[in-house]
Amino acid sequence: MSNDEKALLAEAQAALANSHAPYSEFRVGAALRTQSGKVFRGVNVENASLGLSMCAERVALFNAVAAGETKFDAIAIATFAESPTPPCGACRQVLLEFADELAIHLVVAGHPVETHTLTELAPRPFKSYRD
Ligand code: THU
Repeated sequence: MSNDEKALLAEAQAALANSHAPYSEFRVGAALRTQSGKVFRGVNVENASLGLSMCAERVALFNAVAAGETKFDAIAIATFAESPTPPCGACRQVLLEFADELAIHLVVAGHPVETHTLTELAPRPFKSYRD
């Protein structure tokens, strides 16, 4: 794993501290890297009205897009769980809007345990407005 990848994993791990997850107590931290090398963090942000909660991956993506970034090459996702946590279906769909070939690093206890591509995790997505 390259130093850039290690740095991305460390960003996702560090993001965990800011997760707001008082209801599920399941903290998620994400770090999304642009093709130009910038990194945007995201955390899950839960709400007392549970359905309004937002996943860490989408927070990272929206944070990046709001800053004017639209080209991405990798995301790292960290939790305190013992097994890796792949992105939920909603996050896969939203990430696909901007990045087919995104590398997805799943982090457990600060270590990379699995890497996938987004197309591997979302093999036949809805994209009819683009095709
Ligand atoms: N969560 C994420 O942040 N990302 C995912 O891909 C799946 C789930 C969050 C949402 C909620 O705050 C908590 O994990 C438990 O589902």
